[in-house]
Amino acid sequence: MQDTVTIDYLLQLRFDDAPQNIPDALETEAWHSIANHQSCRSYTDKTVSAELVRQLCALALCSPTKSDLQQRDIIIVEDSDKRATINALFPGSPWIIDAPVFLVFCGNNRRLRQINKRRGHPFANDHLDAFFNAAVDAGIALSTFVQAADSAGLGTCPISTIRDHLEIVNELLGLPDWVFPVAGMTLGWPGRAPRVNLRLPLAATVHTDTYDEEAQNAAIDAYDLRRAEVRPYGSQRDPDRFGTREPYTWSEDKARQYAEPQRTNFGAYARNKGFDLS
Ligand SMILES: Cc1cc2nc3c(=O)[nH]c(=O)nc-3n(C[C@H](O)[C@H](O)[C@H](O)COP(=O)(O)O)c2cc1C
Repeated sequence: MQDTVTIDYLLQLRFDDAPQNIPDALETEAWHSIANHQSCRSYTDKTVSAELVRQLCALALCSPTKSDLQQRDIIIVEDSDKRATINALFPGSPWIIDAPVFLVFCGNNRRLRQINKRRGHPFANDHLDAFFNAAVDAGIALSTFVQAADSAGLGTCPISTIRDHLEIVNELLGLPDWVFPVAGMTLGWPGRAPRVNLRLPLAATVHTDTYDEEAQNAAIDAYDLRRAEVRPYGSQRDPDRFGTREPYTWSEDKARQYAEPQRTNFGAYARNKGFDLS
């Protein structure tokens, strides 16, 4: 554990309103690693052994799974031609190209449907929940993979932009009906040290008893200013369309990001995989 940087310090830096000096708080290595999480976008050449990758996959799959259904799979992309095809999709993302390991976390509702068939029972859950549960299960495994890697000093970065290339990824990984990519994942030993990112204050994201929007706008405004000061963006998104703003804030960046349609074909892709999303 890093002794110099405490969990209280990391949480305060991240949220600005995290509770401090709690008598029953634990300075565990696991908590420290979670508080210190940073996506890693720079890797050294040092390899990560195939066994270590599989062990991280095993740790990821120790995570909870809805109704014990285990509707998530991980595809380790080892084949150099396949890896080259993936890399070529992201010429502007050196952390994808340089990462020694690339994996894809998939939702898998196929296995359950096949089990129903083998056991001779109807599959009576052909609706949105089938897709949702598998997607959530994959997300939980992805998050646990990140935590396992973080606590071993490895770096990761989830890659949802693989879903910008659904048909290519689908074909490349041979994903059958009811198996779909949730996100890719880069893995390796960190090169340039990443920095802890800030999060919205708990005033905006943690509620007691009732969903409460009252503090929302003030909390976002405060976060915008703090983040622009502590972690300013290196560039502004699409200044030709939106102009430039000072300070350039998180909410401005996110609003610009979602002023552009993104992956509008995902519903059609999921339906094409056999899901009834109604
Ligand atoms: C499901 C998911 C998909 C993501 N996709 C991408 C991606 O395509 N490219 C990327 O560089 N980072 C991606 N990220 C990383 C986020 O950008 C990152 O978690 C966020 O900016 C917060 O930074 P931090 O993880 O360092 O705290 C993704 C994260 C998640 C959880």
